[in-house]
Amino acid sequence: MTGISVTLERTIFRYEELEMLFDIHFEPGNLYAIMGPSGAGKSTLLNLVAGFESPLSGRILFDGQDMTGTGPDRRPVSMIFQENNLFAHLTVWTNIAIGVKPDGRTTAEDDRRIHEVLERTGLAGLEHRLPGELSGGQRQRVALARALLRNRPVMLLDEPFAALGPALRHDMLDFVAEIHRDKGFTTIMVTHLPEDALAIAEQVVFMDEGHILACTRPADMHALAQQLPQLARYLGPPST
Ligand SMILES: Nc1ncnc2c1ncn2[C@@H]1O[C@H](COP(=O)(O)OP(=O)(O)O)[C@@H](O)[C@H]1O
Ligand SMILES: [Mg+2]
Repeated sequence: MTGISVTLERTIFRYEELEMLFDIHFEPGNLYAIMGPSGAGKSTLLNLVAGFESPLSGRILFDGQDMTGTGPDRRPVSMIFQENNLFAHLTVWTNIAIGVKPDGRTTAEDDRRIHEVLERTGLAGLEHRLPGELSGGQRQRVALARALLRNRPVMLLDEPFAALGPALRHDMLDFVAEIHRDKGFTTIMVTHLPEDALAIAEQVVFMDEGHILACTRPADMHALAQQLPQLARYLGPPST
């Protein structure tokens, strides 16, 4: 499975006072970091792609195919949130299994693949635990395991590691980059940390007040900030 393109074509969405407009094409198989101040509309952008929100106007296309009216379960997407990715009353195994079989009725082949992703994500041996019996990092690994198993060509992550300490966050970022390299999913990750974007992203999308102001290579982000005051303000003075 390789990534597919995602296009938001003059997509308009409104929450009370803020009108958001997204017009952007995500290339297949690239890894994007979405950055911007709190309230910029980053989560809304992902929710529109995932189908949890519907635009007032405009279109959302996957590989050129219009899926603006398609429900979340029928989009070629997996989504990972900052927290609450898991059902608290279900075991690790079941939380992963429902990614492919919502009724929990897995085939022998499904079970073989679940074992494989448990190994791959370092969760083997923990499959009978409940989410409450795991660390925050392990819980996010379960969410990643489910996305791996679902094998949807677009992977969306909304500040997935913001609640983790630095060392664990770096491990998890490496893991996202590794999944991305292996599977070639089109990956769109919201992060508020420029260092995360610099570490793994191929493109950085900068948003402010419901609009996309820039899409650039991470290496060019600081140079771009000299022409874009909103980005300069967001990044703050260069660290010494
Ligand atoms: N459920 C909601 N109801 C009303 N306004 C909302 C809701 N969710 C978000 N907003 C508003 O929409 C704007 C963008 O929110 P969001 O996409 O969550 O931003 P970000 O993820 O960049 O912090 C913010 O001004 C926020 O207050
Ligand atoms: Mg958000």
